[in-house]
Amino acid sequence: MKSATDIAAIRGSPQDVLAWAVEQFHPRLALACSFSLEDVILVHMLQAIRPDMRIFALDTGRLNEETFECAEALRRRYGVKIEWHFPDREDVERLEREQGLFSFRESLEARHACCHIRKVVPLARALTGLQAWITGMRREQSVTRTELRQVEVDVVHGGITKLNPLADWTTDEVWAYTREHKLPYNRLYDSGYASIGCAPCTRAIQAGEHPRAGRWWWENPEHKECGLHVRHTKR
Ligand code: ADX
Ligand code: SF4
Repeated sequence: MKSATDIAAIRGSPQDVLAWAVEQFHPRLALACSFSLEDVILVHMLQAIRPDMRIFALDTGRLNEETFECAEALRRRYGVKIEWHFPDREDVERLEREQGLFSFRESLEARHACCHIRKVVPLARALTGLQAWITGMRREQSVTRTELRQVEVDVVHGGITKLNPLADWTTDEVWAYTREHKLPYNRLYDSGYASIGCAPCTRAIQAGEHPRAGRWWWENPEHKECGLHVRHTKR
């Protein structure tokens, strides 16, 4: 087993990192897919390495139609089977009955409570039994991601390996790859969206705004994480 220091030293092209991960961890490895540009790129790259690679998605119950359309486009193009995970029914019912449908706008705590039920708990379930997971995160995306590495130890999820193969890529590189390979993408990007999460917590951005400005736009930038990617990873 590699130490956290060994892990941090693993670098390469996204394809090299993916190939290394598949060799080390398949089938106890999966891609977390939100159908962002980055996640679609990773699905595309994985097709050349391991077409039967596991892909999971968290259906929070509040995603945009456009996100589901993108998921279907991806399923049709590659024939991939997406493992959807729902939140616990009773937790959502209690939240909506007691707090209403937009409680996340009321305070940071209320927002975290919603993300916990709809994202964090289902993620923990999706990761059960895995030795490693792959995300589409990049350093450029957020002030909370500036120290992101391609390979990390995910302490929050029991010390499994977390791979962020596109950590170094710029937004321009992401779009260039998407266009070069004519990849399907969420059409909300054509309406000014730069980062896409749940419908009520995501909006389009204005020219010059930070790409993540449209996520939880009523909060400060340092709070814009939902708990899927808490930074307690060892490096
Ligand atoms: S978030 O934490 O703010 O919601 P973001 O939208 O930037 O995350 O996505 C970063 C990465 O987290 C994605 O590339 C994907 O790997 C994973 N991710 C985010 N949302 C989901 C989801 N609903 N289902 C599966 N993976 C997700
Ligand atoms: Fe709830 Fe918004 Fe978090 Fe989605 S992003 S889980 S709707 S608070």
